[in-house]
Amino acid sequence: MTAKAIAVDDQLMRILVLGGTVFLGRAVARQALAAGHDVTCAARGSSGEPIDGVRFVKVDRDDPDGLSGIDGEYDAMVDVARRPSHVRPAVGALAGRAGHVTFVSTGSVYSDISTPGQRVETAPIMEPAPPDFDDPAQDPDAYGRCKVTCEQLVTDAFGEDHVFLCRPGLIVGPEDPTGRFDYWVRRAARGGEILVPGTPDDLVQLVDVRDVAGWIIAAAEARLTGTYDAVSPPITRQEFMDALVEDGSTTTYVPQELLLEHEIEPWSGPRSLPLWLPLPEYAGFMSRDVTPSLEVGLQPRPLADTARDTAAALRDDTPSLGLTEAEETEILDAWHARSPKT
Ligand SMILES: NC(=O)c1ccc[n+]([C@@H]2O[C@H](COP(=O)([O-])OP(=O)(O)OC[C@H]3O[C@@H](n4cnc5c(N)ncnc54)[C@H](OP(=O)(O)O)[C@@H]3O)[C@@H](O)[C@H]2O)c1
Repeated sequence: MTAKAIAVDDQLMRILVLGGTVFLGRAVARQALAAGHDVTCAARGSSGEPIDGVRFVKVDRDDPDGLSGIDGEYDAMVDVARRPSHVRPAVGALAGRAGHVTFVSTGSVYSDISTPGQRVETAPIMEPAPPDFDDPAQDPDAYGRCKVTCEQLVTDAFGEDHVFLCRPGLIVGPEDPTGRFDYWVRRAARGGEILVPGTPDDLVQLVDVRDVAGWIIAAAEARLTGTYDAVSPPITRQEFMDALVEDGSTTTYVPQELLLEHEIEPWSGPRSLPLWLPLPEYAGFMSRDVTPSLEVGLQPRPLADTARDTAAALRDDTPSLGLTEAEETEILDAWHARSPKT
């Protein structure tokens, strides 16, 4: 799909957010309200509370008629859905009633995860989900394939001239329910010798939730259409750690071979090192060339700002994942035994 920005229109808008009770959806609603727009959020209300000041419509998209409570027309709509069965009835109910549509997709739609430096316009994407795929958790590829189907459903219903397909990479920042970035914020705050996976030159790529939300609102205001990655340019693992670590702490880089030997999980979960992916298998995942997105308005903030604000917003109810102190000590000891400190 070719990208196309229609003339900037700074009038206040009626915006419909399908979602809006958690993380990115809440951030979109919060920033739209702050910009003076009239915001309606539609969800069940089970993931969290909508932001004060939005109109909240309780809907259940598991019911094919579940969106019947949404009335009226909207200048812009934002959908964060993951299931084709949620998107199909929504586009049926809302086609023709929203002037601009942002569908929040994902970088997991890309099929080549090992080639570094890929760009949106040439990177291959997965096949759409087969008809019996609807649960993003049913298979390792199901999430990406379901999103490919959702992208197609939205584009077919509203037309390329109305649709912004926004493909975030790893989203971090305040209110992140996953706890992945929180691990590093907490670990940096604890100080001491910090185990870091891989090498200082490995790439890490992420984006602050507020930068994605702000870009989605700006895109709706500007009637931006087309398909873009929503993630900051990659940084090195050392730059990542420098943004988090306080004076007096040290970082010890442990090669991935030793991590794998000790059955440390990548990315997320118990006994994992969050945001670490084995190389070269996943070298394409956190190394995307996002020049096209920066050219049309994505404005990533410095990671140190994200780290500071995430630290200030940490909650006790986010999942506890990553290494325990004992597990980290076990790996550091094993590494030092093999490669004595100089
Ligand atoms: N986190 C990342 O690192 C990452 C990376 C790439 C892409 N993404 C994408 O970014 C988006 C994140 O969205 P998000 O942070 O707002 O979280 P989310 O967990 O995707 O939010 C889903 C929203 O849909 C609503 N919902 C779920 N089931 C529903 C149902 N049956 N009926 C009505 N509403 C329902 C939820 O509200 P209720 O439960 O209250 O109904 C919630 O507001 C997603 O599209 C995700 O795929 C995320």
